[in-house]
Parts: sequence; structure tokens; C-alpha cells
Amino acid sequence: MSMLTIAMPKGRIFEEAAALMQEAGYQLPPELDESRKLIIEVPEENMRFFLAKPMDVATYVEHGVADIGIAGKDVLLEEERDVYELLDLKISPCYLAVAGIPDTSLNEVAPKIATKYPTVASAYFREKGEQVEIIKLNGSIELAPLIGLSDRIVDIVSTGQTLRENGLVEYETIVGITSRLIVNPVSYRMKNKEISTLVSRLTDTIEEKAVQ
Ligand code: PRP
Repeated sequence: MSMLTIAMPKGRIFEEAAALMQEAGYQLPPELDESRKLIIEVPEENMRFFLAKPMDVATYVEHGVADIGIAGKDVLLEEERDVYELLDLKISPCYLAVAGIPDTSLNEVAPKIATKYPTVASAYFREKGEQVEIIKLNGSIELAPLIGLSDRIVDIVSTGQTLRENGLVEYETIVGITSRLIVNPVSYRMKNKEISTLVSRLTDTIEEKAVQ
């Protein structure tokens, strides 16, 4: 059996992704969660984990330094990578939305849209036939309309708390998001047995959770 290298996203998705692996019967060490180490070997499962920034997971998988990764659909939509999306893990559900200050209309010629997702946002407004100016930010997107940098934002909404606490409202929902299992195409051929086993164990676990 070959060793599988898995790129895990640090941050919000991590806990749910690790819990899902554990529910599927994989024994993961506590330091996967607690330490600041970026590479964790799990010889008992013949696995090695990289802890990566969520936006970078697909990059590691595309380059083949990780066989598998767990990535949000938001990242996959934003950065079309040459990877296979094998499974909807149905964890970390959220959605991309257009939001802004309440009761404001977009009557400017090219309203400004602040976002971490310039590709998704451009495609969305292009499809609607609306001309906009995209302003790329890397985080705390909700600041932009509050301080007059943009008229709207395109950002992830999970609980809605960030919008509420900053007095913003949602105007349009763009697309629902969950985390996905992605695989390097070459690894998929070379390590098909190991990857298929992982996929089928995760699939069973996801189905069991759905009927609970
Ligand atoms: C995300 C997103 C929103 C917030 C939404 O940001 O960009 O700001 O979470 O979650 P909520 O609806 O539950 O409030 P994140 O915390 O990942 O950090 P960022 O601002 O650096 O992107």
C-alpha cells in the first residue's frame, strides 16, 4: 500500500474535516490539531498530513506534492485547478452572497465590489449584464462598504453574524458552498486502490450522518 499525502486546510474547515476522518475510522493524532507543526506523519494509517492555508490546498494537490486535499467549493470556483473533485464532504456549509449597507441602490455607472473572490464575482455580475469594478481584498471584507471603499461586497456568509454585527444586509445569494475532497489526477491513477478505499469510507460516513 502506498502512503497517502493529504493537504488539510488550517482554520475553520479543519475541525470538521478531521472529525469526519475520525468518524470514518482513521486514527488521527491530537497534535494534528494542537501543534504548530506543518507536516504530521501518521504511520499507523500510512498517511501524511500537510497543514495548509485553505486557499492553497488545491495548489499543493495540483502540483502533486499532496495526493489529496480538502478544499472549500469557494476556493475551487475561484481558482479552477487541474484536480479531480471526487466527493462533496457536506461539511462547513455556507454560501457566497452579495451584501452591503441596507437600503442603498446601485445607481452608479460601475459600482465597486470588494471581494476575496474576484473571479467568481466578475463572472456573476457579467452574467447579469452588470458592469462593476472589482476590488480585491484578502480578508475582513465587511470593512469595505463601512468605510466607503466599495458599494457592495461578495463574500462568504456562514452564520450571518459578521454581516449582522457590522450592520450589513444580504442582497443576493450567489451559490451554496461545502467542502470537497480533491485529488491529483496522477495520484488517482497511481494510488487508485488507497484513494478509492478512503473515498468509500468517507462516503459511507457521510451517508450515515445524513440519515441521523
Ligand atoms: C469569513 C467570511 C466572513 C465570515 C462569515 O471570514 O469572509 O467574514 O467568515 O462568517 P459568519 O457568517 O459566520 O459571520 P473569515 O473569518 O474566514 O476571515 P476573513 O475575514 O479573514 O476572510
